[in-house]
Amino acid sequence: MGRLEGKVVFITGAARGQGRSHAVRFAEEGASVVAVDICEQVPTVFYPMATKDDLDETVAMVEAVDGRIVAKVADVRDRAALQDAHEAGIREFGHIDTVLANAGIMPVLNEGEQEQAWFDAIDTLLTGVWQTMEVCLPTMIERDRGGSVLITSSAAGLSSIGLNTTPGTAAYSAAKHGVVGLMRLYASQLARHSIRVNTVHPTGVNTPMIANEPYAAFCAEFPEIAGSPNYQNPMPVPLIEPVDVSNALVYLASDEARYVTGVTFPVDAGYLNR
Ligand SMILES: NC(=O)c1ccc[n+]([C@@H]2O[C@H](COP(=O)([O-])OP(=O)(O)OC[C@H]3O[C@@H](n4cnc5c(N)ncnc54)[C@H](O)[C@@H]3O)[C@@H](O)[C@H]2O)c1
Repeated sequence: MGRLEGKVVFITGAARGQGRSHAVRFAEEGASVVAVDICEQVPTVFYPMATKDDLDETVAMVEAVDGRIVAKVADVRDRAALQDAHEAGIREFGHIDTVLANAGIMPVLNEGEQEQAWFDAIDTLLTGVWQTMEVCLPTMIERDRGGSVLITSSAAGLSSIGLNTTPGTAAYSAAKHGVVGLMRLYASQLARHSIRVNTVHPTGVNTPMIANEPYAAFCAEFPEIAGSPNYQNPMPVPLIEPVDVSNALVYLASDEARYVTGVTFPVDAGYLNR
């Protein structure tokens, strides 16, 4: 029997990267998956974002492990679209008990002039997380069987890993810290419903968000930033893999963690303990 048997997880940003890995790992452990992704480029983002083909590939990968999945194109900045995706999940699986607010952008290489990057990052990484929770929580509370909310923050949500001070970098750092505040508020408010709320804080993860040519070129141009000891993991691994984060989330979502709430959980190869 899987560790998440009978659970239904609503995952944002599930078309690729960590979100896809979470969808597959959760399905392997017996969870049904409601997968959401924007599948569209945000103009201030310097690397290519996911496509509908990527989301279809996530569906195929979940089905390949005998998982059940409903996938919807929806932008976490769009409350009505999120609501539609949530309703589709409820129609298919009857309930949702686990929320994984993972969708994100990193519009950090904008050379200081793109103030729009500030708003895009805050809208996606902070407001988008809040909206994801607000859309999912009413039926969880009404069902009265507890549940779990997991928010993907970052090592940048507990410490400065600033590359520069572009508006996008400032917003990324502020939003990743901001979701810790959201987590603490909701963890305290929802405890009486046995709904747990936690954040995870990965170090650099091997996904297209940072494994891309413009980012590699930036690192090569500014070795004093990306190559500095300040920027390295103490454990001998430059980037962790998405599944390393998925495995932590499987634990936090499972009944093994039934009294774990209000926690900032690093998956960071020692980064935050330098
Ligand atoms: N990759 C890293 O080094 C790293 C480190 C720490 C934290 N994170 C965080 O992990 C999360 C997942 O990122 P990833 O590494 O898998 O990157 P990724 O770019 O591979 O995946 C992010 C996914 O989110 C989707 N998305 C973006 N904006 C969206 C929106 N408005 N609505 C719905 N979906 C949207 C994208 O289309 C994409 O599929 C993000 O919150 C990111 O900030 C990443």
